[in-house]
Amino acid sequence: MRLLPVVVTVLLAACGPSSSVDEHVGLVGDLDTSEAGITAFVREGRYTTWLAEPAPRDSVRSHGPKVRVFFNDVLVESMRAGNATHPPGSITVKELYDSEGRTLRGHALDVKVVEGAGKDTWIFFEGLGPDYGDNYYGRGHSTCHGCHEDSGRDYVATPLPE
Ligand code: HEC
Repeated sequence: MRLLPVVVTVLLAACGPSSSVDEHVGLVGDLDTSEAGITAFVREGRYTTWLAEPAPRDSVRSHGPKVRVFFNDVLVESMRAGNATHPPGSITVKELYDSEGRTLRGHALDVKVVEGAGKDTWIFFEGLGPDYGDNYYGRGHSTCHGCHEDSGRDYVATPLPE
């Protein structure tokens, strides 16, 4: 006799992030750049209409097995112009998937907050769902900036999808 499939009910946590650090940069474009603001932004998928890689693909060096990167218009325009540094309001979001590329597990986001060069011109964020309770968050975050300085132009490492 075969066993009936087990029906698993997944309850998505409705509560907000347990941490709420803030670099006090305020709004950059439409984005509230506090940790809570960025968490809400990625959770609600407010980036999903942006220019994006067509599908999850193998991650190059970090960020788990499969990823998909999105770029907002400000950043797209600046990358197309070949700028050495991107203007404030430039944002890129990286969706982090499981090894099959099906289940979205979390997000990384970089937002340029002031003009100029250097790690402190960016706020870096990375967190995992469903609760986003233990995020990386900070201006020039020490976990993020080294690799990104080496791998990219003004900390952006992924080429634009065309
Ligand atoms: C071990 C090196 C390494 C570390 C540490 C690292 N990254 Fe990345 N990251 C990369 C590379 C390489 C890419 C581009 C290649 C790829 O997408 O697979 C990338 C891509 C990204 C992207 C997509 C846009 C872009 O710049 O290409 C975001 C957003 C991002 N990382 C955020 C973060 C954040 C936030 C942290 C810190 C919590 C972090 N990264 C730490 C290497 C790293």
